[in-house]
Amino acid sequence: MQIKHVGVVGCGLMGSGIAQVCAQAGYPVTVREISQDLLDKGLQSIHKFLSTGVERKKLTEEQKNQILGRIKGTTRLEDLGNCDLIIEAVVEDIHIKKEVFGALDKICPPETILASNTSSLTIIEMAAATGRPDRVVGLHFFNPAPLMKLVEVVRTIATNDEVFQTAFEFVKSLGKEPVAAKDNSGFIVNFLLIPYLLGAIRALENGLASKEDIDKAMKLGCGYPMGPFELLDFVGLDTTYKVANILFEEYRDRLYAPPPLLKKMVLAGYLGRKSGKGFYDYTK
Ligand code: CAA
Repeated sequence: MQIKHVGVVGCGLMGSGIAQVCAQAGYPVTVREISQDLLDKGLQSIHKFLSTGVERKKLTEEQKNQILGRIKGTTRLEDLGNCDLIIEAVVEDIHIKKEVFGALDKICPPETILASNTSSLTIIEMAAATGRPDRVVGLHFFNPAPLMKLVEVVRTIATNDEVFQTAFEFVKSLGKEPVAAKDNSGFIVNFLLIPYLLGAIRALENGLASKEDIDKAMKLGCGYPMGPFELLDFVGLDTTYKVANILFEEYRDRLYAPPPLLKKMVLAGYLGRKSGKGFYDYTK
């Protein structure tokens, strides 16, 4: 099956990045947000990213305009009816995701492949909300989507082999590196990353070292681009808390149990870069 037209549901941080990546690879993309205001914000962030790219001489002004010309924004889910592949990137809430999958199933022709960018929920739960569980996969991009090379391609126990292969090849056509993963909560990366991030918070709670030294140790000792606290602030403490809870619910393993400090920081509104304060202060 050939993917000619891509749909993206959600134009937040991940949805906008995914729409941009697809348009950069030459696909016409229709991206849907629930309100015009949120859609404008998402499209604006794509515009800003591409303009920075032009300043950094990564692309020309003409290429930027061509990429933007391939992206059509909408607030109507029905406008995704002509897409061959639709990637869902709405909030990490299974009830909302199931609603989206159920609605897409009614709107799209039977051959359309439906994908979720979930980072922690199981794909089969969304597949079960459709009448085409064999045509549902996970396509998990990483933040920032336009820069991160990896996409986890997730096959459920119901996914058709040809559909999986099409999704895998599609990821390659985006210039990304696909890896195949089973439909277990967290797939490969978050299965390993979340215990690491939570472990860093526990180490800080226990007074092992300062957050600055823990970050420095992991960057210089392991060659990671960011230390765990920089990464927590980058991903968002609320997102990490939510993902950790979903994984804990699934595995009932204390490795995934959110430490009290994480919960307290989320309750205080210290969400990381997006709120101006997390483990570090971004207001200055
Ligand atoms: N357009 C084009 N290129 C751009 C760009 C733009 N707007 N902005 C940056 N770039 C390019 C830069 O030019 C640079 O390229 P070169 O190496 O060729 O010079 C490269 O991207 C890196 O940019 P910067 O130098 O500005 O930034 P950096 O070196 O500090 O890297 C980063 C930023 C890529 C985010 C890096 O810090 C990093 O990899 N951090 C870790 C991110 C990570 O782990 N993400 C996963 C989060 S977990 C997740 O997403 C899973 C989940 O489900 C929760």
